[in-house]
Amino acid sequence: MSTSPIKVFITGAANGLAEVREGLADHPEVELVGTAADPGKAGSKLAESGAQVILHGTTATDHVPTSEIEAIRGITAAPIVLVTSASANALLSEALSAGIFDVVLLPQLTDGIVFTIKKANSLAAGRSSGSTGKSSASIEGRVVTFFSPKGGAGKTVLACNLASTIARQQHRKTLLLDLDLQFGDAAIMMGIEPEKTIYDLVMARRELDSDALAGYVTAHSSGVHVLPAPLRPEDAELVTEERLGHLFSVAKESYDVIVVDTPPFFHGPVLSTLDRTDQLLLVASLDVPSVKNVKLTMQTLDLLHYPTERRHLLLNRSGSKVGLKPQEVERALEMKVEFEVPVEREVAVSVNRGVPIALSNPRSGVGKAMQEIADKLVPQRTAGGKAESGGRKFRRKG
Ligand SMILES: Nc1ncnc2c1ncn2[C@@H]1O[C@H](COP(=O)(O)OP(=O)(O)O)[C@@H](O)[C@H]1O
Ligand SMILES: [Mg+2]
Repeated sequence: MSTSPIKVFITGAANGLAEVREGLADHPEVELVGTAADPGKAGSKLAESGAQVILHGTTATDHVPTSEIEAIRGITAAPIVLVTSASANALLSEALSAGIFDVVLLPQLTDGIVFTIKKANSLAAGRSSGSTGKSSASIEGRVVTFFSPKGGAGKTVLACNLASTIARQQHRKTLLLDLDLQFGDAAIMMGIEPEKTIYDLVMARRELDSDALAGYVTAHSSGVHVLPAPLRPEDAELVTEERLGHLFSVAKESYDVIVVDTPPFFHGPVLSTLDRTDQLLLVASLDVPSVKNVKLTMQTLDLLHYPTERRHLLLNRSGSKVGLKPQEVERALEMKVEFEVPVEREVAVSVNRGVPIALSNPRSGVGKAMQEIADKLVPQRTAGGKAESGGRKFRRKG
């Protein structure tokens, strides 16, 4: 367990919230990092506070204060605990679907509130309590890889959002592995500043095992652990296929799901990733060059004997009116479009803010699409807490 106090930011207003604040100010397990009555104006103060849990006071009794929650979500993905003094039955029933972690009805003993804060924080930290150790013995993580032969197709946006959804909503131990080794930007899109990257991992002398791996990942507030790409493009080549293979076998022991982001071309590390990929999401869009290039990718996958049942065609920015229809894409690729992710203006904003839209707005089109992919491709836990295994192994020839 981490011994440092949990950083809590208080927003909004409610009868009794001042007493809560006083109680928490003296509590050794909590550090108050800021307050703002109007979350819409909390801006950089909240962003820079490093808050791990948000307590939001509300006087609303019959509905979740959606715009306030969205204002907070636009800034941070930290779990939100709603605090209210009213009897709030209607609010309670709405809160869960609005992504609120818990609702605390005042008055309440400080220790009770601290307990809720600790619960929220440990869930957000992926329930891993600072270690990816072997607590859920012998899980065999499943690897979900995004690939597209074109830059700008949406691989990184989708990888970040899917990983966040799996961690936050399915509560699975999730690793986001950035294998766009030269120009990876998964860390930026997740809004984290990692201390270590895959470069440090491959350069280390120490034998890689689950505990060592835990030292190289950065925990995101959604629960996702991120292993970023090297900071400098020239370091990419140090990540050899052999090292990557070892990384995968260790990561599969530590995580339920490994979501992999890739560069827009086949090279050693991508081929070695394909070897270990259970579900390959091929990202296409509604333009002719994209379809042509995905077609070529299919042919390469055929040559590699990559099983067709593990290929899933994803149409990103669907709904954009550019003349090409999903049916035409299907006809050209001789493959069904299995997932459609709509084009949404909010996505660009979320990228610039470093908060995946699936977290800030799970009910957005992208958020819902991620939920669908997660439900379909990530097996539910079986009785022993073990994920179903990915089945036969695909081996690349030659
Ligand atoms: N569904 C979408 N709706 C709107 N914009 C999108 C969508 N998907 C991707 N984008 C935009 O496209 C840009 C490029 O996406 P990115 O994930 O970086 O592509 P890739 O990793 O394939 O090169 C992103 O910065 C984002 O603004
Ligand atoms: Mg990318």
